Amino acid sequence: MQSLVAINPNKKDAFDYTELGTVQFGQEEVLVGLIDLEKPNFDPEEEKNREHVLVKVRAFSCNYRDKALLVENYSSIQRTDRLFVPFGSEFSAEIVAVGSAVSDFQVGDIVMSDCAYPYSGREGVMPGVATNFASMGWLRLHKNKLIKKPGTLSDSEAACFSLGAQTASGMIRRSGILEQGGTPLVLSSRSNTSLFIIQQLLARGITPVCLSTSEWTEKEQQAIQPSRVESVKAALENFRNDTGKEAVTHVFDPFYDMNIGYGLYFLQHGGTYITCGIRDQHPKLSQETPKDAEATVRGALEMSIVKNVSIMGNCLGSREDLEGAIQLQDATDRKIILDQEYEVKDGVDFVQRSFFDSTRFGKCVLVYA
Ligand SMILES: NC(=O)c1ccc[n+]([C@@H]2O[C@H](COP(=O)([O-])OP(=O)(O)OC[C@H]3O[C@@H](n4cnc5c(N)ncnc54)[C@H](OP(=O)(O)O)[C@@H]3O)[C@@H](O)[C@H]2O)c1
Repeated sequence: MQSLVAINPNKKDAFDYTELGTVQFGQEEVLVGLIDLEKPNFDPEEEKNREHVLVKVRAFSCNYRDKALLVENYSSIQRTDRLFVPFGSEFSAEIVAVGSAVSDFQVGDIVMSDCAYPYSGREGVMPGVATNFASMGWLRLHKNKLIKKPGTLSDSEAACFSLGAQTASGMIRRSGILEQGGTPLVLSSRSNTSLFIIQQLLARGITPVCLSTSEWTEKEQQAIQPSRVESVKAALENFRNDTGKEAVTHVFDPFYDMNIGYGLYFLQHGGTYITCGIRDQHPKLSQETPKDAEATVRGALEMSIVKNVSIMGNCLGSREDLEGAIQLQDATDRKIILDQEYEVKDGVDFVQRSFFDSTRFGKCVLVYA
């Protein structure tokens, strides 16, 4: 199969690949290309493969974290003999071989990733994302890192589902809003994580207040109805003038360092603020990091004391959170928000838009099959 990878520029004359172009990652120019990869050997009887499967990726997508990982890996391979490095942390795939102790999956099953965290469900198997190299196309994975693709999701939707849906499900559960009720506020609403949070809250009959720094088209706004998206600036103005003073009980924020000041400003006394991430996760991607980030965080921490709020960190979610997200998805008519599907020949556009286009709305997916 043809796989999309980042090519080691120091080795580009040493092997055959199809050059697609470059993408600028901060100070790093990343060369993107296609390579041909044969199906690797996988002996089901071998001890090391007992609980593993071999899958062939049908579609994959990238997440925010993959930007920093790709920059780091790309810098690293330039100091080695490695020819290329794959990337991407979510996929839908067909099982093409199973180890001798695997009974939950059969050859031909279509699966997607299970990012269960902090427990993988099996001692010795790492929790978290199933792979950082989804674009490789052929993946040997432990069976606990997979879950069957539900019939309600297309291959592309499944390749964009697990990480966002599992995280949203975990954050909503851990925030306590399902027991306590209340009015949630979702920050950076255009982000993939926030879109999953918004859709899951809506599917549960809870309408969040959504704040954003970007312009939304009519069609984008319709995707989150009956929620409405407001600009952060307008919300601050209304809040100061008292016209928009809705009692916010829970804040969901994917960018702690960027938004916590706003989050705690809007949050009512005794409320809950929950976050799962920070921006600019690599020094090479940090040229535009605001200089006052530290002061903002310190100010917010001070506010958290005065307001008696709970601040929670959240990483991914459990297996049950993913299963719950699938059940919720099956039961709702709310669609997974996909920005665009790409073919391999358009790999550069896919990488560019996945990581650097602020008009992206939902996930970008690269389709192999
Ligand atoms: N720990 C975990 O388990 C976990 C899981 C999922 C995600 N995360 C983290 O959550 C964060 C969000 O990930 P994502 O994939 O949802 O991100 P994303 O889709 O790339 O987010 C893009 C959106 O975030 C806001 N934004 C980002 N950078 C900005 C900037 N420099 N200035 C202003 N607004 C900016 C904008 O929202 P608006 O246009 O609406 O303002 C933008 O449209 C990341 O830190 C990621 O690592 C963590």
